[in-house]
Amino acid sequence: AVHKIAVIGGDGIGPEVIDHASRAAQKAAAKFDNAELAFNKLPWSTDYYKQHGRMMPVDGWEVLAKHDAILFGAVGSPDVSDKITVNELLLPMRRKYDQYVNLRPSYLFHGVDCPLKNKAPGAIDIVVYRENTEGEYAPVGGQLYVGMEQEIAVQTGVFTRKGCERILRAAFEAARKRRKKLTSITKSNAQVFSMGLWDDVFAVVRKDYPDVESAPLLVDAAAMDLVRKPESFDVIVASNLFGDILTDLAAAVTGSIGLASSANINPTKQFPSMFEPVHGSAPDITGKGIANPLAAILSAGLMLDHLGLAKSAKMIRDSVAEVLKDGKVRTPDLGGKATTTDMGDAVVAAL
Ligand code: NAI
Ligand code: MG
Repeated sequence: AVHKIAVIGGDGIGPEVIDHASRAAQKAAAKFDNAELAFNKLPWSTDYYKQHGRMMPVDGWEVLAKHDAILFGAVGSPDVSDKITVNELLLPMRRKYDQYVNLRPSYLFHGVDCPLKNKAPGAIDIVVYRENTEGEYAPVGGQLYVGMEQEIAVQTGVFTRKGCERILRAAFEAARKRRKKLTSITKSNAQVFSMGLWDDVFAVVRKDYPDVESAPLLVDAAAMDLVRKPESFDVIVASNLFGDILTDLAAAVTGSIGLASSANINPTKQFPSMFEPVHGSAPDITGKGIANPLAAILSAGLMLDHLGLAKSAKMIRDSVAEVLKDGKVRTPDLGGKATTTDMGDAVVAAL
């Protein structure tokens, strides 16, 4: 079968890492699932914006919708506001295509130095289910008296019963297939309305999963426990903002943001799902050829899984694990001197 993949490298290190992700995914799909990936590279980025005054063409959403999946690098650039780059391409995509599950695994691979003491490989094995379409990132609010002394900004969180329920159910289903433990991140002691609703829905949904050990945890305590005892977590379910913050933390305790992968999934498959590394465009290392491509490669692995190519998905993950365990090729974020290309080549060779 042929799978149509839209590839948006985007800005900064985005295009640098996404090329290796495409290459690895293509080889894995062909070799282990006898499947073909047809890539459609789209130049949508800050450069595109500078030429055309928009992040994507007028019919961009229709173009994207014709694909089976989207492989995405990163957007964001020092010379154009995130209000445009991130907010006119990435965030609307998650909402427009109803990619309400943002799945973000964190795993302590063998061969990666953990900043925490006495953690064995595999001891940290967490999947965060982050709500991806509403919550604190809903584009609701406004500013008055901009730049004046009496300036006011309002940013409203939008939480719906349906939105809370569907992400909670997705997370419980995942916990059932894993170690059967789920932590629901909350802050209902202070955010009584929105997080109050989240907790109410959690209490209802958990009744359908008596086989899963589940409990709520305040987000500040969760931040502490992710550092203090990350091995105590299995599946974490969180709102948009809390999930965003906790996944950078989970990435750091498992060695590097350069290893953190993610999937933005529309479970109904009405629209394409999107796969991207957790990291951004990293302007500080752009063009140096030292970005770690493994987060992008692992994200491409999540994409293969979503496309039903389970064997090649597993082989991507196993090959990354093998390269890390071997330890000869390491980018600077992992304490080595290897280039992006060395790392990409090592994974492709392992495949
Ligand atoms: P960032 O994730 O781009 O960088 C944070 C730090 O991690 C930097 O020191 C960077 O060098 C390092 N890093 C990131 N990815 C790496 C990799 N693959 N290998 C080695 N080191 C890596 O976050 P930052 O600097 O806060 O944001 C830069 C821009 O990216 C901003 O415009 C931001 O809005 C945007 N951004 C976009 C995202 C997306 O497109 N999904 C996600 C996060 C940020
Ligand atoms: Mg983030």
